[in-house]
Amino acid sequence: MSLSRHIDAEEVIAKAKEHPHTKHAHHARRHGPAKVSTWKHDEEGTELPKYTIPKHGIPSRSAYQLLHDETALDGNPLLNLASFVHTQMPDDANKLILENINKNIVDLEEYPAASIIHNRCVSMMADLWKAPKDSKAIGTATAGSSEAIMLGGLAMKKRWQEARKAAGKDHYHPNIVFGANAQVALEKFARYFDVECRLVPVKATKGFIMDPRDALQFIDENTIGVMVILGSTYTGHFENVQLMSDLLDDLQEKSGLDIPIHVDAASGGFIAPFVYPRLKWSFEVKRVVSINTSGHKFGRVYAGLGWILWRDESLLHKDLIFELHYLGSTEYTFTLNFSKPASPIIAQMYNFLNLGFEGYKRIAIRDLRNSRMLSRALESTYFTVLSNIHHPATSTGALGHILGHAADDTDNPELYEPGLPVVSFRLSEEFQKANPGVQQRWIQVLLKTKGWIVPNYSAPMGAENVEMLRVVVRESLTEDLIERLVVDILEITESLQGSEGTMMATMSKPVVHQPDHEHGRPDKTNFGDADQPGEAKQSGFSSRC
Ligand SMILES: Cc1ncc(COP(=O)(O)O)c(C=O)c1O
Repeated sequence: MSLSRHIDAEEVIAKAKEHPHTKHAHHARRHGPAKVSTWKHDEEGTELPKYTIPKHGIPSRSAYQLLHDETALDGNPLLNLASFVHTQMPDDANKLILENINKNIVDLEEYPAASIIHNRCVSMMADLWKAPKDSKAIGTATAGSSEAIMLGGLAMKKRWQEARKAAGKDHYHPNIVFGANAQVALEKFARYFDVECRLVPVKATKGFIMDPRDALQFIDENTIGVMVILGSTYTGHFENVQLMSDLLDDLQEKSGLDIPIHVDAASGGFIAPFVYPRLKWSFEVKRVVSINTSGHKFGRVYAGLGWILWRDESLLHKDLIFELHYLGSTEYTFTLNFSKPASPIIAQMYNFLNLGFEGYKRIAIRDLRNSRMLSRALESTYFTVLSNIHHPATSTGALGHILGHAADDTDNPELYEPGLPVVSFRLSEEFQKANPGVQQRWIQVLLKTKGWIVPNYSAPMGAENVEMLRVVVRESLTEDLIERLVVDILEITESLQGSEGTMMATMSKPVVHQPDHEHGRPDKTNFGDADQPGEAKQSGFSSRC
């Protein structure tokens, strides 16, 4: 007898209840307010509708308790190794954030101190990213790297359009070039702002990132710029900004095309300056016009903060800038949305002051050391490691020349290939051959039962048949926790050895029915033009970061 009949959990719960008001909960689900009393913790919660605003409120304490209990079902941020986003700040930072949580950074007149702190952050980052002293670097806080990337792309698009108009040429068909490993924000920019997205396929042999030599064939007179990724979301590899720039110099010499570079340093912007001082990726490279980073990744602030800086004010066309008048003077803005919380910006400055350059460096060194430890542990067992920060810098590698100078200092990240503290890995060929019934994604599922969140992804276009598990080593993933993680990964992998996996195949099937999720999820077939052929395909993966 088959046990696979679909069970509607909501219906089962509703029937199991004795409360008269919830009898019809199932019918109300699609057609009206659902009074499903899954909130049993407190009497006040039992009558609350879930999808309409309650007519009468409940006491603050009860509202808190209901939501406190419900959010306890979320994963544990400490064990969320899928995310680049920072999840821990010291008590003093938390206090400062709470003190400023009610301030809107756009209210310059009311909160001038927050605005001044914002400007100082921009200035500190311009210095960190080697903005030339003779130019006027300019920048802004954003909601995250995604908004920053939109702004960087828009600035390049506008400059291209103006140049084309001035030359009397077509300015309606812009394109942008970046690797297929790009995070979804880059594709979003292209699609939302009508720019053709030219994705450079990646190769497994090249670390699943864009090879600048391959990018050249995608560039033409309609290319508004190339986005180079400093810290691939998949493996942490750094794309080669200097080589891209050199190749574009050659191209300019041959064709006259002057193609700018935007660096997506969402994660690398707060790693590279501290531990790879010789690597040329920032405003030192003349072709780099703008750089984004996420304050909430290795900037070490909670979710909600990104940054973008341009090498010089002249790179922003005046049409993109809006004026705000305050205290008798004029301020200029270039952002997608108006209001933004001031507290993340203040928290960023707290980190700059509290950690200083040496503090950021110390933490990055530790994260990279822990990543190497994890990489080696995995590599010596059942896995092939795809990230490269544990490989000694080769003579052909960006930093090979320093090998030998500091060989005794094995902690120096410059002795290894540059990259993010990320460990991407897959089951080794030998393991797969010996255990053909085992699917790698089961490791993700089994780790979750122990609390760890370690995603299993497909590699980007060009190498999409490779699956990889990925661990982001943030400060909170201490050496001690890595030891636990290794033990758990090995135990799980060994438990799968020789298994036919029937039970796992059932366990790891996608969840078919989640009443609460489904209620809010749109139906794809209802989207405008959904039945038209030629639906835009998303080629990158939607990162969980
Ligand atoms: C390389 C890269 N670019 C952009 C983003 C988007 O960043 P955010 O989440 O700050 O919008 C990410 C997020 O992981 C990323 O890894």
